[in-house]
Amino acid sequence: MNNKLLEISNLKTYFFSDDLQVPAVNGVDLYINEGETLGVVGESGCGKSVTSLSIMRLLAHTPGKVVDGSIRFKGKDLLSLSESEMREVRGNEIAMIFQEPMTSLNPVYRIGDQISEAVKLHLKYDKKKAREHVIKMLKLVGIPRAEEIIDEFPYQLSGGMRQRIMIAMAMSCNPTLLIADEPTTALDVTIQAQILELMKKLKEEKGTAIMLITHDLGVVAEMCDRVVVMYAGKVVEEADVFEIFENPKHPYTKGLLNSIPKLGQKSNRLDSIPGTVPTPTKMPKGCKFAPRCSQAMDICRELDPDLVKIAEGHRCRCFLYQSEMVKEA
Ligand SMILES: Nc1ncnc2c1ncn2[C@@H]1O[C@H](COP(=O)(O)OP(=O)(O)OP(=O)(O)O)[C@@H](O)[C@H]1O
Ligand code: SF4
Ligand SMILES: [Mg+2]
Repeated sequence: MNNKLLEISNLKTYFFSDDLQVPAVNGVDLYINEGETLGVVGESGCGKSVTSLSIMRLLAHTPGKVVDGSIRFKGKDLLSLSESEMREVRGNEIAMIFQEPMTSLNPVYRIGDQISEAVKLHLKYDKKKAREHVIKMLKLVGIPRAEEIIDEFPYQLSGGMRQRIMIAMAMSCNPTLLIADEPTTALDVTIQAQILELMKKLKEEKGTAIMLITHDLGVVAEMCDRVVVMYAGKVVEEADVFEIFENPKHPYTKGLLNSIPKLGQKSNRLDSIPGTVPTPTKMPKGCKFAPRCSQAMDICRELDPDLVKIAEGHRCRCFLYQSEMVKEA
């Protein structure tokens, strides 16, 4: 029996501006078991980053707010923790590699000071021990001249190096859960492979659970145990990685998988899904995928399907698998 490390139920995170309410995350349900890697996939704007910022409770500097739902980590409701309790969780128990490395590295502090701050706070190391630990972490993520780089500023480094610094920072306090939001998208292929290897090592050696947000289904196939597919602020399918690739059910998941170029494919054209993701303020009635779905039925334009279990460990949000609902309509 797997133990759930993180459990998110009906999470709703909205952004507010003047008279506009933007439902960026609109009822997300997902869980991560201890020590597993969960892949989170979906087109741009479907709410992946906002979900992870909600878990970390890092929305204070945005017009965003969690308006409903719960986020339980090791049984504790993160949404009810005080800010100082949450600071203990951040970095120590849950760490995050951000999609934009520059936004989370402070340009006016030296690299070493930024990483050792967390190490001193969470691991209770003194200055000397913290510095040694930081150098070890920098070496671990493949930073050359770690003893010198530790005293440099973020602007002195390349994008790839900054991303590695971010990863070193996130891993430095041995978190139980690492949230990695597109950790390798900005990197070239060789470094990408090294970073993924590093994350795998972390998982194997320390039992770290990973929530891996990515557009790259190749990365999902290589890294993940289970996958959730998001569309328009909700989870539309969830299954283990083999099931997702071998037996996808939701028309959106099938569309995403069809957009991967096949080996030996004559044309370079990707079979991408027609149409675009609806903007959160102009969501269609019924199933949010209906305007793009070739299998849409009348009921799909009226009602929004629930996420239901269709096999052991496999959930899907689609009327094609809810025949009793279709019959009733
Ligand atoms: N600070 C903000 N203010 C207002 N709206 C926001 C803000 N941040 C995100 N959003 C909106 O929330 C929705 C979800 O955004 P999010 O960043 O979670 O998407 P994503 O799935 O991470 O996309 P990508 O793959 O491009 O990173 C989008 O419609 C976006 O415009
Ligand atoms: S519920 Fe209907 S529109 Fe939505 S994905 Fe399923 S078949 Fe397509
Ligand atoms: Mg994002």
